[in-house]
Amino acid sequence: MTERSAPAHTALTRRGFLRGISALAVAGASLRFAAPARAATASGSLTVPPLLESTTDSSGTKVFKLSMESGTTEILSGVTSATCGFNQAFLGPVLKVNQGDTVQMDITNNLDDVSTVHWHGAHIPPSVDGGPQNTIDAGGTFSPSFEINQAACTLWFHPHALGTTAEQVASGLAGMLIVDDDTDGAAALPSTYGTDQFPLIVQSNPVSTAGALLFTTAGETASTTSFPLLVNGSNVGVDGTPTLTVDASRVRFHVLNASIADIITVTRSDGATFTQVATDAALLSKPLSVAGLQLVAGERAEICIDVTSGDSVTLQATVTAGGARGGSGTSAIVTLTSSATAAADELPSSLATFTALDVSSPDATRTIALSNRGNSMLINGVAGTTMAAMEAAGIMTTLGATEVWTITNATGLTHSFHLHDVPFQVLTVNGVAPTGGYAEWKDTILIAPQSTNVIAMQFTDYADNTFGYMLHCHNTVHEDEGMMTMLMVMTG
Ligand code: C2O
Ligand code: CU
Ligand code: CU
Repeated sequence: MTERSAPAHTALTRRGFLRGISALAVAGASLRFAAPARAATASGSLTVPPLLESTTDSSGTKVFKLSMESGTTEILSGVTSATCGFNQAFLGPVLKVNQGDTVQMDITNNLDDVSTVHWHGAHIPPSVDGGPQNTIDAGGTFSPSFEINQAACTLWFHPHALGTTAEQVASGLAGMLIVDDDTDGAAALPSTYGTDQFPLIVQSNPVSTAGALLFTTAGETASTTSFPLLVNGSNVGVDGTPTLTVDASRVRFHVLNASIADIITVTRSDGATFTQVATDAALLSKPLSVAGLQLVAGERAEICIDVTSGDSVTLQATVTAGGARGGSGTSAIVTLTSSATAAADELPSSLATFTALDVSSPDATRTIALSNRGNSMLINGVAGTTMAAMEAAGIMTTLGATEVWTITNATGLTHSFHLHDVPFQVLTVNGVAPTGGYAEWKDTILIAPQSTNVIAMQFTDYADNTFGYMLHCHNTVHEDEGMMTMLMVMTG
């Protein structure tokens, strides 16, 4: 990305973050923020992204204002990094919406580069999906509007312009979009943002000794590159383990691996289990007691931790390289304590309804073959580095089709397979039906080296003969190296 000195009103640094926010308010900028991110009922050193307030227009649409800005952040101790973020110098606010809402995202691109904003995991029309066809020029604006047409889940938003996704995500352009609904299952989960509901945006990204955020295979492999572990933008190796003290007896964490490539496994430091309540695409049918949660780049999960006065629960992240070289080791990512004296009620035994797709006679079966030629990453033999290549090699289906895809991986690398538009179900991995969260709705999954993965999906609701969706590796370095292609859902 071409560097650009931050305009005065966005010269935010993470360490001066809160001061920066009030400066914005004083300056009367059009950005709107909720009251201080950390409510009175939670305290500690955990960085809690601000909740972005919307305004409601005369037709009832919730309007959110997002501005892509450049700034600086101290990621390595004493070193200033050029970073970008939504409405702030690094990362972005959290947006909360409800199933059935109509939203409008007023996006301003104040970067020096073309960009897009993609709503990862959102079931929305391709004309507003924010893929490489929805470009926003430097200085430009885009105001996609869409209905939230899915039940409770944890989505995120990030740039998706052709060839610059890894660069722009690594620079800090990532934010969380939480969808709520009015089912009993969702109502049973903590949902007061900043009080008993928190995002944990975890990143292990390559950084040079001079503080440059790196985003290529060459950057990953350079011997001087380090991989700091960031939690909501704070380097736990510099700032120490984030702490969080709440009044509640149960906390819900929305965990996102926003790394460009690395794989993050979350466990409790005491070896105990915790409760997973959602995959990346939906609430689980029932709460699941898990010993750990492995998330590839782009993958999310929701977990609940019960804690009462006198207890302390520390979550930790173990990092493994997703790319040519990556982070390693285990770091604490949050230590949770509570002043609650009474234990939380048991979670309901059912959170949501999960129905397996009928795949007895699919409308199409396809093979998605992942391979590479050196650093050229291929889907079905084609490097998707241009729109023309992806249009020629892409997938064409029709509205309503149910399909079964076999994803093969001829490489010795782990990939993170992601499909836009609709979530999918994993039928088998190397011939075996998956368990746990991988047995329900997903939009991003780990693809092991040399593995065969069969998934099924149905292309409901949105067709467009001009705009397409994307499917790709969410190791965004691989994505930019060509492991991406296009999906057209035709009106039929
Ligand atoms: Cu998270 Cu195609 O993207
Ligand atoms: Cu996506
Ligand atoms: Cu990959």
